[in-house]
Order: sequence, then C-alpha cells, then structure tokens
Amino acid sequence: MEYKYISRSEIDTIELAQNIESEKFPNMVICLDGELGSGKTVFTKAFANAMEIKENVTSPTFTIIKEYIGDMPLYHMDVYRLEGNVDGVGIEEYFNKNGIVIIEWANTIKEILPEERLEIKIKVASENKRVIYLIPYGKKYEELCEAVI
Ligand SMILES: Nc1ncnc2c1ncn2[C@@H]1O[C@H](COP(=O)(O)OP(=O)(O)OP(=O)(O)O)[C@@H](O)[C@H]1O
Ligand SMILES: [Mg+2]
Repeated sequence: MEYKYISRSEIDTIELAQNIESEKFPNMVICLDGELGSGKTVFTKAFANAMEIKENVTSPTFTIIKEYIGDMPLYHMDVYRLEGNVDGVGIEEYFNKNGIVIIEWANTIKEILPEERLEIKIKVASENKRVIYLIPYGKKYEELCEAVI
C-alpha cells in the first residue's frame, strides 16, 4: 500500500510534515528520498517545528548526523556524502534510541534500514508541485499513514 499526496507549494509539504503526530510514534524512522531540491529538508524543518524544536534545523550534509532536543530527541541525517559507505559510522545505533530519526537520501543506505519504517518519496512535478508517496513498512506506520492522508 502506498499513499499519495499532491503538494502544490512548500506550504503543502510543511502541512504534511506537521500532520504526522510524532508524539504517538516516539521511535519512528522516516526515510526521505527525492532529487536535489525536492523538499526533503523543507519536510524535516517542518517536522522539527511541530516537535517544538527551537534550534534552527539546517541540512547536516557535512556532519551526516545532527541531534536536536525537543519534546523528544530528533536525529536528522543526510547520508548523501556517505555514498553508501556506512561501516563505522554508527547509524544503526540510532534506530534503537528513544527519539525520531529522519534520514535524507535513505535509499543509499538501504541495507541497514530497519524493517519497520516510513518511506517518503518526493517526485518533482514542476517548479512548485511535488508528488509525495508515503510507503509504510509495518503496522504502526500503516496506521500513521491512514491518520495523515
Ligand atoms: N511543493 C513544494 N514542497 C517543498 N519544497 C518546495 C515546493 N515547491 C517549491 N519548493 C522549494 O524547493 C526547495 C526544496 O529544498 P530542500 O532543501 O528542502 O530540498 P532537499 O530535497 O532537502 O535537497 P538536497 O538533496 O539538496 O538536500 C525549496 O527551495 C522550496 O522552497
Ligand atoms: Mg536537504
């Protein structure tokens, strides 16, 4: 099952992110994929905002992993620069922590992603239009999608 959401502006993408109730799913793993400039960081910033994170969320391209403290911890990863070389980075450790994990370019580290996760694929349709697919793996993520879309 996949859920399709049409985003006609940055605001729509922000709304989608804010509609995901992080407090109901405190250990969620969200895997974001989509070309450069598709809106992965826009989504993450809005999600962080909904989690009451006060710090400005920036793209963690150079650090790979950034940790933010809010209602619960948020671990924001951008694994683009790893080019799939995950050995020794310790990404897996974050999947068992209490907190939300959001991974930009998750598809590049597919082998180590947890079995249960929410995949979000963003397709650029035009300058401001995005087609966003939510693909749940596991029952709790299915419920989450049902509640959001
Ligand atoms: N419907 C939309 N949803 C999200 N962003 C949009 C939309 N329409 C236009 N934009 C613009 O697209 C850009 C998305 O940038 P963003 O940094 O979020 O992309 P990204 O996927 O994180 O890219 P990168 O792979 O470089 O990290 C922003 O400038 C945003 O204003
Ligand atoms: Mg980004």
